[in-house]
Amino acid sequence: MANPIRGLVLAGGTGTRLRPITHTSAKQLVPLANKPILFYGLESLARAGVNEVAMIVGDTREEVKAAVGDGSRFGMNVTYIHQEKPLGLAHCVLLARKLLGDSDFIMYLGDNFIRDGVDAFVQSFSERSDGTNAQILLAKVPDPHRFGVATLDSTGNVVSLVEKPKVPASDLALVGVYLFDPTIHEAVRSIAPSARGELEITDAIQWLISNGKSVKSHIVEGYWKDLGEPEALLEGNRLVLESLERRVEGEVDELSRIEGRVALEPGATVVRSIIRGPAIVGHGAVIKDSFIGPFTSVAAGCVIESSEVEHSIILNDSRISNIHRLEGSIIGKSAVVAKTERRPLANRLVVGDHSRIDLV
Ligand code: DAU
Repeated sequence: MANPIRGLVLAGGTGTRLRPITHTSAKQLVPLANKPILFYGLESLARAGVNEVAMIVGDTREEVKAAVGDGSRFGMNVTYIHQEKPLGLAHCVLLARKLLGDSDFIMYLGDNFIRDGVDAFVQSFSERSDGTNAQILLAKVPDPHRFGVATLDSTGNVVSLVEKPKVPASDLALVGVYLFDPTIHEAVRSIAPSARGELEITDAIQWLISNGKSVKSHIVEGYWKDLGEPEALLEGNRLVLESLERRVEGEVDELSRIEGRVALEPGATVVRSIIRGPAIVGHGAVIKDSFIGPFTSVAAGCVIESSEVEHSIILNDSRISNIHRLEGSIIGKSAVVAKTERRPLANRLVVGDHSRIDLV
């Protein structure tokens, strides 16, 4: 039997982008349905039988390491590789050369989410007998100029790849998941940095194609990527909640109703309230005299009282009090949003950088 497929997970980058919505600066740890984006990727790799993972980390390595640990909670062994500067996705392959050995491997970008996971994709690659050297995942997107873009022939072979083209040749974006055999190591050694100064994996795959190697593709549905915009985050949260399963493990009093697909974590309490799924309420959260509507994630330790919240993300330990209706909102950690009777009767705001407030 061939070597088992290894994992190369990219969770590096500079972490310089400021976000109002979370104290963490690692974009791979931004939560969707109360769980960091990165964890969905790791879980899906574990399901696919990938249990040796090299993880690239950069400036935000302490946060990433604190969250992922040695990987045992995912049933895998994670070895960290510190990349001092984000010199490109192909540079990550260079750095991981030793750990990857001559195994086939899956490279997974930690800020991408694929609803249906990668299990089938890994399996078909490990069982292939047609000499395919690389397989990439693609998704149809409305804004291909923000991605690597592929052109295919009629049988699904990849003919060309261009990184963030001004005029995209198709709407097929490279999803951040790639399967490689060891020929990729020669490819990443053979390319030069791009105009943005990075060793692009797109160029390395193009090198494979130009050198007669076989690169196949597979189109996925349910793809989401963190674009750093609040609306995109709400959209990602919605995508995850759409496939949530009902799980009521917290305490619910007899005056409350839990409707539909709601995940109520152990230790959460619901008093005189309605929660209408899909929605998730984290450990230790208290929902009192409130309505939590569809597509809402309330993280651990939050208190929501006498309020209505829908299609929103509330991060850990925040309090929403006496708010008639909150919609399409993202509330950071330990924040307080409360209606007050205190005089003078005015809006008093303490708002973080890059925040946005729409008052009615
Ligand atoms: O997300 C899909 C896109 O990812 C593809 O369509 C593009 O072809 C591919 O080049 C890549 O584009 P981005 O410019 O969006 O990649 P970004 O710089 O955001 O990095 C993706 C992930 O990899 C992110 O979690 C940070 C990590 N990373 C990135 C670089 C450049 C590293 O760990 N080290 C690096 O040197």
